[in-house]
Amino acid sequence: MKSIHEIIIEVDRLAPMPQVMNQIMAIAEDPNSTMTDIAEVIIYDPVITGSLIKACNSAYYALPRKVNSVKEAIMLLGLDQVIEFVLIKTISAYLKKGTLGYGLNEGELWRYSVSTALMARDLAARKDASNKQFIFTASLLKDIGKIVLDRFVSGAIEEIEELVLSNSYSFKEAEEEVIGLDHAELGGIIAEKWDFSPELTYVIRNHHMTDLSAMEDYATSVVYLAEIVAMMTGIGSGIDGLAYRFYENVLEGLKITEDDLQETISLASEHYYNVLDLLSIT
Ligand SMILES: [Fe+2]
Repeated sequence: MKSIHEIIIEVDRLAPMPQVMNQIMAIAEDPNSTMTDIAEVIIYDPVITGSLIKACNSAYYALPRKVNSVKEAIMLLGLDQVIEFVLIKTISAYLKKGTLGYGLNEGELWRYSVSTALMARDLAARKDASNKQFIFTASLLKDIGKIVLDRFVSGAIEEIEELVLSNSYSFKEAEEEVIGLDHAELGGIIAEKWDFSPELTYVIRNHHMTDLSAMEDYATSVVYLAEIVAMMTGIGSGIDGLAYRFYENVLEGLKITEDDLQETISLASEHYYNVLDLLSIT
């Protein structure tokens, strides 16, 4: 199909992912990571170092004395929050652009991805998952395919909407039918180009359960559920809105109740505004 060839050319044109992102993701995926591991990565990136120290010294924390080093910043925020800060900040360069094909203005895909990642991490923490940082990362990156597919969705939106509204396609199925590739599959291709781990690539590629056996994968199931829940809250969700399939047995598989979902929604939205406050300072 002609458009697939054009899409792959656009993927090849994407700017390489900054090295700090892959290094931080490796730390996030390793449960034995220490503060020293993360400090050693951050100190070689002056932009991240500056942002982190600036955030710590903001009125938000109201500290009695100034933070002057990455190590002090990590001690103040904690390992998990620093990992999240670096990931959210780095990926913003890609996700902040408008994706008008999906009905999202500048910043909306990024904000939506952040809220989804916070929900995914909360759902994972609720069940004491050991890989909650990996789940946060996968959820933050799951829609990366949209940044390239956007132009093609935009050019075919009437056909896509017709399939969704009149033929009961999910938005993802309509993307595949009309364009030849959906945003999850394309996200998997981008993940491979950027040397993401096979585990992370798998979750991105299957975050809409293209392969139903992905329901047996814990991380994929949590990321999938978080996306559905985030869409229900309406933060930054676009034209594709709720036009995705909901497999209720994912809830059973994860042993997540309606009450869990309600608590996750309220906690994540509180955390979401805190994160945005913090990032707006830097
Ligand atoms: Fe998606």
